[in-house]
Amino acid sequence: MDKKVVLITGCSSGIGLSLAVRLASDPEKTYKVYATMRNLAKKERLLGCVRELHRDTLDILQMDVTNQQSILQARDSVVEKRVDILGVGLMGPLEVQSLDTMRQILEVNLLGTIQTIQAFLPDMKAQCQGRILVTGSIGGLHGLPFNEVYCASKFAIEGACESLAIVLQHFNIHMSLIECGPVNTDFLDNQQKAELGDASLDQVDAATLDLYERYLHHCTAMFHNAAQDTEDIVKVFLSAIQASRPAFRYYTSGALPPLVRLKTSAPEGCRFIRAISQLIFPTDTAEQPP
Ligand SMILES: NC(=O)c1ccc[n+]([C@@H]2O[C@H](COP(=O)([O-])OP(=O)(O)OC[C@H]3O[C@@H](n4cnc5c(N)ncnc54)[C@H](OP(=O)(O)O)[C@@H]3O)[C@@H](O)[C@H]2O)c1
Repeated sequence: MDKKVVLITGCSSGIGLSLAVRLASDPEKTYKVYATMRNLAKKERLLGCVRELHRDTLDILQMDVTNQQSILQARDSVVEKRVDILGVGLMGPLEVQSLDTMRQILEVNLLGTIQTIQAFLPDMKAQCQGRILVTGSIGGLHGLPFNEVYCASKFAIEGACESLAIVLQHFNIHMSLIECGPVNTDFLDNQQKAELGDASLDQVDAATLDLYERYLHHCTAMFHNAAQDTEDIVKVFLSAIQASRPAFRYYTSGALPPLVRLKTSAPEGCRFIRAISQLIFPTDTAEQPP
């Protein structure tokens, strides 16, 4: 049987790394994995996780999703392409975000993802088959305080994927979003985050800083109590890869759909905004919006 050829972005760490290791180490050698990363100096971590026995199922390629040339070079090195997964984050009061940093988030999370799909689409359409899996986030399903630009990038990718899926179904290409809540990766450490005490926060008013501090505490507690391991996320990716008719959305945790229902059940009201606020700032007695 022909191997399934899978291309994964962001394999230097986190979910991309775990997915590459799992697929390359498949006991049946079902997959040929093209694991891409923007900095090949980081490839030892991946190589260290894949046993010699399975190295023939793994190729590591350089690919920066914000650089079209590197995407095209990677594309030209593979036979088929099916999986896409990566992203970066940005956290802090909006007042202190620079335009350059905001652009970078949109470049990677939104345009990088779209540009990558764009490069592989003609071949996939010509073959009239394939799968595209994109890592979504709870931050693409509802707003999160102090994550305005990250959420904007993740909301935007939801819209892009929903729109594209309508066309792709006519080409037997399945698009799936794997919606994640908190996951135990370096994501929180890697993301560009305004740290309390940073000089950039000097210009922020005290009330906002107080909310930000409470949000950071909430985040730390949430990751401590509820973060999933990358292996849990990889299982969901595998369901989407192996299903004969994959769903458009997969939620990695049962905690996510109720939040989405809360939003869609009263889309016009502030009840949802208050509910999210109460989740994150539970002791808040501040005046509520009408
Ligand atoms: N962890 C969570 O709690 C969580 C929750 C919801 C959704 N997600 C989503 O999951 C995805 C993966 O995140 P993760 O948790 O695995 O975080 P991670 O460990 O920080 O991995 C992010 C990956 O993206 C790569 N990357 C960044 N910019 C790139 C570029 N321009 N071109 C190519 N690769 C680039 C990084 O490579 P370098 O090593 O070179 O920086 C790294 O491999 C993201 O889309 C994120 O939004 C994560």
